[in-house]
Amino acid sequence: MNERDAERLAAGLVRAGWRLVKNPADADLILVNACSVREKAATHALGRLRQLYQLTAERPGLLFGLTGCLAKHLGGEARDLLPRLNLLTGPGAVERLPRLLESVKGPDDFVKDLEPAEDEKKFDPDADFRLDHPAIGPHAAFVTVIEGCDNRCAYCVVPDLRGPEVSRSPEAVLAEVGHLAAQGFTEVTLLGQNVNSYHSKGRRFPRLLREVARIEGIERVRFTTSHPKDLSLELLEVMADEPTVCEQLHLPLQSGSDKILRAMGRGYTADRYRALVRQARELIPDLTLTTDVIVGFPGETGEDFEKTENLIRETGFDSAFMFKYSPRPGTPAYSLTDDVPAEAKQERLECVIGLVTESAFARNRGLVGRTLEVVVEGRDRRGEPFGRTRGGKSVKLPGESLEPGRRCTVEITGAGPWSLTGRRAEVLA
Ligand code: 5AD
Ligand code: SF4
Repeated sequence: MNERDAERLAAGLVRAGWRLVKNPADADLILVNACSVREKAATHALGRLRQLYQLTAERPGLLFGLTGCLAKHLGGEARDLLPRLNLLTGPGAVERLPRLLESVKGPDDFVKDLEPAEDEKKFDPDADFRLDHPAIGPHAAFVTVIEGCDNRCAYCVVPDLRGPEVSRSPEAVLAEVGHLAAQGFTEVTLLGQNVNSYHSKGRRFPRLLREVARIEGIERVRFTTSHPKDLSLELLEVMADEPTVCEQLHLPLQSGSDKILRAMGRGYTADRYRALVRQARELIPDLTLTTDVIVGFPGETGEDFEKTENLIRETGFDSAFMFKYSPRPGTPAYSLTDDVPAEAKQERLECVIGLVTESAFARNRGLVGRTLEVVVEGRDRRGEPFGRTRGGKSVKLPGESLEPGRRCTVEITGAGPWSLTGRRAEVLA
């Protein structure tokens, strides 16, 4: 979602006459759009920010701005950290940014806008403008369908930073995807903090997904993120019967202990999660299943953690984002004592990383010998092409000459935990 915001920010600036440059040293304006969902993400972003900010000391006249969740999270503090800051805008100001910049004429000016977006301005479809994302390849685009979040998971700052849920109208979503298809895009990823709570004009997410899936020219549809408490059988059925909807589901587990899930306010039990996975795998046999896990939430005992380990072991995820709990100011859990010692958090994190690496590797080894459909996304550092399966797995294609965007069938010849290797069988498109 942050990447899509960055793309929209860039689109607004390009429309206002700015030009993108590759190298920060050549820029007249540097805008940093950063995430603050976890402390580590925020610290990492601040480190990079400081590096870039150095350039303002070397180059008088260079304008510098901080945007997005991190800007909103830091608020006034941002200027204490970065006194030469010219612009501070929150995730709600994406559409207003070009106008705000008009009042920044020189290095001494400062403008701040941490207000939310007006609902109808949240999605401003810049269908004509997509950046090349290293994450998705030039044939693919992100399309936001719902913004914000009405849940209140105890650890999470997103509802504060992004505000309440607003669903985009189905007409706007379909028009944008149609426009992307007309421009030659063949893949879209529908975005929302919780796509399963999408509702607009009587449409819920499964029907919207079905309609997007049937747009002429679109060959692959993905979506993220699905909250387990809102995942419906109907959605799984749409995934199973629409040929363009990819066999890929990101279903954040967070914990395998009911006690911790309750404390987190997640609204499902470990058994409910198991049942969903069973149902999903029955309907979509080739499903790639990924998840998010937090270790060391307040009150997590060794026994609670074991339940997480067991659930991970029995589920067999293809990949996961795994985090140590970090208290975030303003969240319901902030008032709880962060009582799991740092060493225990580290140990538990390493343990889940080990388990997920094992299952990812085993699942990938199970694909060796199969022939899978792959769309070429780019070339790696050695100049070799790589692509992605419908499940979203990365496939190296050494020695092949295939341009990005080509769709082919590939015989899988090798596997590591995080990628596959293959040989082209047939070029499809
Ligand atoms: N500490 C650790 N992990 C967190 N996440 C969100 N907030 C926190 C936090 N305070 C993780 C969750 C979520 C993902 C985007 O980030 O796993 O699904
Ligand atoms: Fe955060 Fe929970 Fe909303 Fe996801 S569903 S953005 S974890 S509050």
